[in-house]
Amino acid sequence: GKRFGLIGHPVAHSLSPQMHNDAFKDCQIDADYVALDVEAGDLEEVTEKIRKGEIDGVNVTIPHKVAIMNFLDEIDREAERIGAVNTIVRHNGKLVGYNTDGAGYMQSIESYLPSNVKDMNILVIGAGGAARAVCASFLGAGVSSLVVANRTKEKADTLLNLISTNQDQTNAMTLSEAENGLEKFDLIVNTTSVGMSPYTEQIPISLRKLKDKAIVSDLIYNPLETAFLKEAAESGATTVNGVGMFVNQGALSFEYWTGIKPDRKRMTNIVLKTLG
Ligand code: ATR
Repeated sequence: GKRFGLIGHPVAHSLSPQMHNDAFKDCQIDADYVALDVEAGDLEEVTEKIRKGEIDGVNVTIPHKVAIMNFLDEIDREAERIGAVNTIVRHNGKLVGYNTDGAGYMQSIESYLPSNVKDMNILVIGAGGAARAVCASFLGAGVSSLVVANRTKEKADTLLNLISTNQDQTNAMTLSEAENGLEKFDLIVNTTSVGMSPYTEQIPISLRKLKDKAIVSDLIYNPLETAFLKEAAESGATTVNGVGMFVNQGALSFEYWTGIKPDRKRMTNIVLKTLG
């Protein structure tokens, strides 16, 4: 059978193996997917194994999404824009890096958005790798008003300088500036790790002045409902947790490897069951 895996450090608690193994089974593909705990110094060795066919493809996670790019033969345009790779595919002996995080996020939020996504005022909280994937996708979708707020404002500036082609449409700010201007945003996305288990009581910004009918989304899926989403729901917002992004980024990787569309509902159920 074929061999796939997730390279990261640490990876022991990842839900990806269960999700992908179930999808392989469901699609009757003879393959397995394992978590591979790899330290930075061993990235080259792992990529050689993929080149030689000992491994057929991998997902890449924290902290290797940027460093892995040095060992690949080609980087897909979207991954280049995001500046990180989360999926490696072997094409004719060449290793190609893709990034399915941004597209996975867009698929997860799609059904919640009005048809005029381009006119929405969007606030992204955080300026790390996840923020960059989400922002690149929004800008790719033609969004014309995007604010990135971060604890360290300079990082928000740097992120936008890297991916924004029209500085009139994007703006960097501090977390408190975002908090104070909250009533302006139609969609608010937390991409920081604030509120992730075990720090479940923390929130990245307070949501006191939410716009009517605002949508609040959190990339975190453990806990399923972060304190941030709880506060948003109490204020009457529509909330979207991080399970959809996780499932969709995995499904898109699966499609790159196999050419087959896995059953996302089934994948979601596996994830929800595993999270308890
Ligand atoms: P990822 O790849 O998951 O996005 P990252 O690149 O380490 O992870 O980025 C983490 C993000 O969470 C950053 O925006 C970080 O803010 P700083 O740039 O100021 O460090 C944000 N973050 C992490 N812990 C935070 C906290 N306690 N309060 C506010 N922001 C936090």
